[in-house]
Amino acid sequence: MATRTTVLKRTIEGLYRPHRKHEILFQGTFQSHWAHPDLVEIVKQTQNATTTSSTMPSAPLTVEIPDSVYSFSAFTSEFVKLLTEEIANFYAASERFDIPIHRPNSMNKYGVVVNEIGLRPLISSFQQDYLWPISKVLFPQEATPKFDGHHSFIVRYQADEDLGLDMHTDDSDVTFNVCLGETFTGSTLTFCGEFGAANHRQYTHQYHHQVGRAILHLGSRRHGADDIDTGRRMNLIVWNHNSVWRASSQYRELKHGMGYQREQGLPSKVCLSYTHDVDYLAYHDDLPERAKTLQLHPWCPPPGMEYEGFEDQLRAKDKKKKTRDPVDEL
Ligand SMILES: [Fe+2]
Repeated sequence: MATRTTVLKRTIEGLYRPHRKHEILFQGTFQSHWAHPDLVEIVKQTQNATTTSSTMPSAPLTVEIPDSVYSFSAFTSEFVKLLTEEIANFYAASERFDIPIHRPNSMNKYGVVVNEIGLRPLISSFQQDYLWPISKVLFPQEATPKFDGHHSFIVRYQADEDLGLDMHTDDSDVTFNVCLGETFTGSTLTFCGEFGAANHRQYTHQYHHQVGRAILHLGSRRHGADDIDTGRRMNLIVWNHNSVWRASSQYRELKHGMGYQREQGLPSKVCLSYTHDVDYLAYHDDLPERAKTLQLHPWCPPPGMEYEGFEDQLRAKDKKKKTRDPVDEL
């Protein structure tokens, strides 16, 4: 029996079908001339590559963080144009014909799940022909033996909508995140450490998006979309899933926090999450406005894994608050 969600997904795809702009995107094949020549070259390199550093893909693959985060030119301008026009067309059709939009998550109010508008086969084709060959070399544990599912969606940021996204990890084994436009300033992507590592909340890198260029990283890496200053940014994100890896004992142990390490020291301010971190307000004067209506359930760092001086930081913040705002004490 179909669930309500399944029915809703079928309804969105069915309702949008008569209004499609570029039928070629719905044929189920990512055409080879839509891949940027750099991406084609990287995939070619992976055919003979093993996970020893001497045979790993090199230029035009850029190492953003060694062994962790990579970037490359992914799409031609022709494909970026096709996809952005299709997404704009879907937004317009949604408004005009009252087609519901399923948002990618509760923190993103302006995105759209592209799998649900009929683009799942296109993304699957791209995943199998391009993302998996690269991932199995760069992230063999998470990508072997294959990718067999994906959650794919558009995110959109602009000054009067969502500005950015809090620090988080993805429910993804390997995340592909490609910028589709438009013109903007700010809106960088900040990376911190791997989930559960001693440097989990230590700043490691800031990535600047470029149209057509993608970043590839493990979903378990802590990262956040920095606030946009001007313009509008739109990205396609593919959360690649590997059911064999997800069924493994190693994956389950990691998910349940086994091997979680004690934090190495005071966290970097830019790596703090207002959603997840119990000590966020020890380093910030207040929550962002957008967080004030959310039901927050902070958990990080878990008991016993706190850095040295954690309690002192919380006490210092309490003391400062009481000094500044004595009325609260009445
Ligand atoms: Fe993410």
